[in-house]
Amino acid sequence: MVVHDIIVIGAGLAGMRAAIETARSGMNVAIVSKVHPVRSHSVAAQGGINAAIGMNDSWEAHAFDTVKGSDYLGDQGAIELMCKEAPEDIFELDSMGCLFSRNDEWKIAQRPFGGADFPRTCYAADRTGHAILHTLYEQLIRHGVPVYEEWFVLSLAVEGGVCRGLIALDIHSGKLHRLHSRAVILTTGGYGRVYKNSTNALINTGDGMALALNSGAELMDMEFVQFHPTTLKSTGILISEGARGEGAYLVNAKGERFMKKYAPKALELASRDVVSRAEQQEIEEGRGADGCVFLDLRHLGEALINERLPQIRQLSIDFEGIDPLKELVPIKPGAHYSMGGIKTDVWGNTNIKGLYAAGECACVSVHGANRLGGNSLLEAVVFGRRAGKAASLYAQEATSAEFPEDALANAARDVASIMNKTNGERGAAIRDELASAMTMHVGVFRDKMRLENALTAIAALKERYKKISVEDTGSIFNTELIAALELGHLLAIAECIVIAAINREESRGAHFRLDFPARDDTKWLKHTIISKDGSRIKLSCKDVHITRYQPTERKY
Ligand code: FUM
Repeated sequence: MVVHDIIVIGAGLAGMRAAIETARSGMNVAIVSKVHPVRSHSVAAQGGINAAIGMNDSWEAHAFDTVKGSDYLGDQGAIELMCKEAPEDIFELDSMGCLFSRNDEWKIAQRPFGGADFPRTCYAADRTGHAILHTLYEQLIRHGVPVYEEWFVLSLAVEGGVCRGLIALDIHSGKLHRLHSRAVILTTGGYGRVYKNSTNALINTGDGMALALNSGAELMDMEFVQFHPTTLKSTGILISEGARGEGAYLVNAKGERFMKKYAPKALELASRDVVSRAEQQEIEEGRGADGCVFLDLRHLGEALINERLPQIRQLSIDFEGIDPLKELVPIKPGAHYSMGGIKTDVWGNTNIKGLYAAGECACVSVHGANRLGGNSLLEAVVFGRRAGKAASLYAQEATSAEFPEDALANAARDVASIMNKTNGERGAAIRDELASAMTMHVGVFRDKMRLENALTAIAALKERYKKISVEDTGSIFNTELIAALELGHLLAIAECIVIAAINREESRGAHFRLDFPARDDTKWLKHTIISKDGSRIKLSCKDVHITRYQPTERKY
């Protein structure tokens, strides 16, 4: 049995930041990750990280923009705390050596981002996630934190409402291991691969959310899925909002800057839900081309693009055959981020003792119904640190609970049930059909009929999933087995998204119901809570925490 005080699952920004905090507290901490840390999806974050560090900016202004962006569903106490603590976390990253871009005064440069009334987004060209992830990885090495890399977590070891560790499969050998700890911190990121067109890496399969749900944790606000307005037509690869922050336009097939109609003041820098809906409407009403509208960067000029947006230029050339210096980039909305996740408080506590969560897999909730660009990296760093601190305090006090006797046998049985079957269906077709159903029925615009179609499709796919088998029956690096296990997570999460979306009969933030097009604060100013009752999904709700910003109509 492997033993640590604390185990962090996931090695992106939230995970590494949490692990560093626990190591600083003197804890014996380890990370378990299904990929090498610098392959975590945080590396793909482009445009930046928000903090009110500019002259004439304030954390209060940041908090207001975030509350408004959340369509008033964000918990305001948590938002205030995040915005207040943001500057210190940025300066700490800077002092660790993170290579932020600089302005003329050699201070950390900041650019405008959507939904913000101030240029508040700190950046490292258009590779901000890459810069921060590598900085934190250096700190991880400095603190000597061991990483069980390319280990896949099969289950959490929860008994009597207390988390006591986990069972993981070492992908290199196929061996199952018991990892015993006083606390576990989930930082596994999102589930973007539940959709076909997504900015997310293939690894983003909602593992942490599914593991937590299966162990009795509550999920919150799963209906809110963010569609990023600018993803490349053919691949869904992200083209950073930083492009619009630097002044790029959105145009339709007639060359019109259509955002004038939808957000006359903020234009291309309205919040993401507003811009994605505008694009989808242009496309559906016939003013797009081949399912797309266009991003126009040509007027920004070569020098600015090469200095501040080099990656998106290269991505456009490599994956679309388009050079943004000379041509319009075809883009469309794509699944980008999960506002919902494992319900936590501001210290990462879940409803299971000893189980913490932070980053995209968690829902604090600081994003409510729609996240502002630049607040995701911030959330990961602030709440990763906080979860690390809280888990350390807990682990120092907690008596070590016994590791559940049957945990290993149960996990081994689940793996064997896939490995030992013959002639079953292979998982790839199910994964593909799931992504198609979610893309077709649970997108930017939703209604009861589409959502119920999705639920029916998921139910049928879940039945087929019970009978899948793998062709690769080897134990070493069996990626087919890993994909089959991930598929189970994707199906579980898709079901939660759809059930919550059917339940919420209003439109708020990224959840737009054509059959209930208005926001309804009387009935729906509340969070959706999901838990599991046996194999059934149970719904309940929770009030939104309002401090100083009363809900008003959102205009951009
Ligand atoms: O557009 C972007 O660069 C994405 C940023 C974010 O999601 O925060």
